[in-house]
Amino acid sequence: MSAHETASPHIPVMLREVLEALAPKDGGIYVDGTFGAGGYTRAILNEADCQVYAIDRDPAALSRGRAIEEEFGGRLTLVEGCFGNMEALLHERGVAAVDGVALDVGVSSMQIDEAERGFSFSSDGPLDMRMGGEGPSAADVVNSFEEKALARIISVYGEEKKARAVARAIGRARAEKEITRTGELADIVASAVGGRGASRIHPATRTFQALRIFVNDELRELARGLSGAEHLLREGGRLAVVAFHSLEDRIVKRFLAERTGASRTVSRHMPLPEAGPAPSFDLLFRGAAAASDEEAGVNPRARSAKLRAGVRTGAAAQALDLDALGMSRMPVLEGGAA
Ligand SMILES: C[S@@+](CC[C@H](N)C(=O)[O-])C[C@H]1O[C@@H](n2cnc3c(N)ncnc32)[C@H](O)[C@@H]1O
Repeated sequence: MSAHETASPHIPVMLREVLEALAPKDGGIYVDGTFGAGGYTRAILNEADCQVYAIDRDPAALSRGRAIEEEFGGRLTLVEGCFGNMEALLHERGVAAVDGVALDVGVSSMQIDEAERGFSFSSDGPLDMRMGGEGPSAADVVNSFEEKALARIISVYGEEKKARAVARAIGRARAEKEITRTGELADIVASAVGGRGASRIHPATRTFQALRIFVNDELRELARGLSGAEHLLREGGRLAVVAFHSLEDRIVKRFLAERTGASRTVSRHMPLPEAGPAPSFDLLFRGAAAASDEEAGVNPRARSAKLRAGVRTGAAAQALDLDALGMSRMPVLEGGAA
């Protein structure tokens, strides 16, 4: 039995709410930027007689999806690549404008559950963590980056208070022997941050999250994906984004605040104190929607999910400004140095 077959299936999160936000219509064109196990894609295709372009950077997800592609005979196109490049990926396929974009960011249950992918601290595997299998792995980062750079990654992307202690422990351990397994790293981190204590989460959770975000450049991908959607969506088109932790959700929130003009509003009674670009989105609803208690009860992944959604106006798309999204000081992989 292959690793793919042993992995537990991914349960789509907030599916009903995402579908309501997208409101797929006959003849429409939709982008599912995070195909995964195809939960959203299948639901969109079942909801209306529409076309879906489903993107995933993980070739394993796409090969599992071939059966769904056949099932919907020509209405589904699977696209290997990063959703940060969605505009180019759609243009290459002759699509200039779409009616909806869905993003369900992060990793899938299959990726976490397959020890060989190296995302998990609870089942030992090679320290990899690349969703797409390209570029440096988590082991490359952990074994070659200076302790100071590692501490910054773990602090910024893991929000780990003991990031320096973790980086020092990594430095000591790798001086003895290269760190190649997730189990080794989990033990090293646990030794630096202490046991679980009263916390429900494993001591290595934050460090693993940080390395995963860094290796896959997840937050910049998210920002580029939001901008790509802004460029591709036609007037009235819908954007629905599900985020799973505060770093992701903050970016989506700030992006929508920027694009709706809310970040320029002093108060509800004194809108738009200074002229700026015309809003390119209206909010579909205020704030973030959460999963129902019922869903959170059966799917632990849904407990931290936050959905935000917008409707594209007819105004021109704006240039992506990472500073405005609070991202200018985030460590980047480019060049191998953080
Ligand atoms: C949470 S799962 C999506 C699950 C999906 N909504 C479903 O119902 O099955 C996230 C998926 O998005 C992919 N992914 C994450 N970041 C990506 C990116 N920047 N570009 C393309 N795919 C990405 C992952 O490989 C993973 O398969």
